[in-house]
Amino acid sequence: MDNKTRIAVFVSGGGTNLQALIDAQRAGNIKSGEIVLVVSDKADAYALTRAENNGIKAVVITKKKGEQADFENILSAVLSENNIEMIILAGFMCILSADFTSQWPKRIINIHPSLIPSFCGKGCYGLHVHEKALAYGVKVTGATVHFVNEIPDGGEIIFQKAVNIEDDDTPEVLQRSVMVQAECILLPAAA
Ligand code: GAR
Repeated sequence: MDNKTRIAVFVSGGGTNLQALIDAQRAGNIKSGEIVLVVSDKADAYALTRAENNGIKAVVITKKKGEQADFENILSAVLSENNIEMIILAGFMCILSADFTSQWPKRIINIHPSLIPSFCGKGCYGLHVHEKALAYGVKVTGATVHFVNEIPDGGEIIFQKAVNIEDDDTPEVLQRSVMVQAECILLPAAA
């Protein structure tokens, strides 16, 4: 009998973190869980191609403005149909409501590309995080894996990894450094 936790990975974009999870799974480094579903809120997310290339079921659920409850009802139905037990947010750019997160206590984790509580919260995502870190002038940044609750980037921290900022870093260069040196290591370790 297969007792592995059934994991859904939520994505919105390129899926670098999804790929790190898939690679770790293939290498046998995700011991207790199995990625069985990828959910994207964007129909053109390259992460969907990564799921397809690796034989993982993928669904697109788009959110229309002001329709959070409808969006989350569809999400919940899809998760239930697929017997999902744990959710990993890997570059998922929608904020989930308290109604949704309260149904998944300590069963949703997120990766954020900074050392929380710096450069995080509503509106601070993707490249913006690295722009803010460079504008502030911090010399060290990194990534954080945390449980998800109703506060954006506010749940209990699981792992953090620091990354040094170089004098000539641009936001794009720093994003890549944080991805390679921290995110792609931390997220599979937490799964
Ligand atoms: C990653 O850097 C991830 O940490 C970040 O978006 C990027 C997605 O890239 N997530 C957030 O900023 C969430 N607040 P990917 O789709 O290539 O993994």
